[in-house]
Amino acid sequence: MKRPIGVFDSGVGGLTVFKAIRERFPKEDIIYFGDTARVPYGPKSPQTIINYSLQNARFLLQQNIKILVVACNTSSAVAIPALQKLTEIPLIGVIHPGAEQAVLNTKKKRVGVIGTEGTIRSGAYSDAICALDPAIEVVSVACPLFVPLAEEGWQDHSSAHNIAKEYLGPMLQMDIDVLVLGCTHYPLLKDTIQSVVGESVKLVDSAEAITVYLERYLPPDGNETPGQSSFFVSDSEEKFGKLAHRILGQEIRSLKTVRLYESWFVDR
Ligand code: DGL
Repeated sequence: MKRPIGVFDSGVGGLTVFKAIRERFPKEDIIYFGDTARVPYGPKSPQTIINYSLQNARFLLQQNIKILVVACNTSSAVAIPALQKLTEIPLIGVIHPGAEQAVLNTKKKRVGVIGTEGTIRSGAYSDAICALDPAIEVVSVACPLFVPLAEEGWQDHSSAHNIAKEYLGPMLQMDIDVLVLGCTHYPLLKDTIQSVVGESVKLVDSAEAITVYLERYLPPDGNETPGQSSFFVSDSEEKFGKLAHRILGQEIRSLKTVRLYESWFVDR
């Protein structure tokens, strides 16, 4: 029996990761879970993010997934060790794939990282980059306003451009040549961010980076039938559906709301 890839995120932003995986692996079945009832994870404490992530993973593990992809950067930054205790199947977060691409692309050995407060506070990207190459200098900045801008569809608005200039200006003075987009929503602001940092700075999209990484785990597609995609959310199918349409450029068919059980909060 064909087993699906499981992907979870704090909400709708992880669809940037889903989209990249779907394009790279068209024959795979994918189950996506967006925790729309509790988004955003970015400003929350590590323990809360770990609890939510464990709960999300338990739901996906019940669907007989063969690989678990943690699309949410904030969850990937703090919850991977706890998630690893939960399952034997391969578990992939976005931090290491993004860090690898940053290391491969920097010539000046100066890398910028942007993400939510939780991701930046954890130091996960800078730790992962420096573990691969200790000579690299990493400068990190939290950009919390990018998430609501992307969700409002304001990614190309002049206010998005001004906010990006505020956030990224000091980083540019550090002469970085690579910038890691360490949040599910930031690929949606790629054009604005690129116009602020200039063409000489290479943007690393963690959504794309993870597909390169996934190829190590998934054999090339055989002659199987086209992959099915199913979507689950913990709240409001309607809002998710609308944003999903914008991110994926098409309507999603199989979308359901699920209840996550309180008892799953307990770290068993
Ligand atoms: N999915 C989150 C991340 O990639 C962004 C949205 C949130 O704060 O939950 O870090």
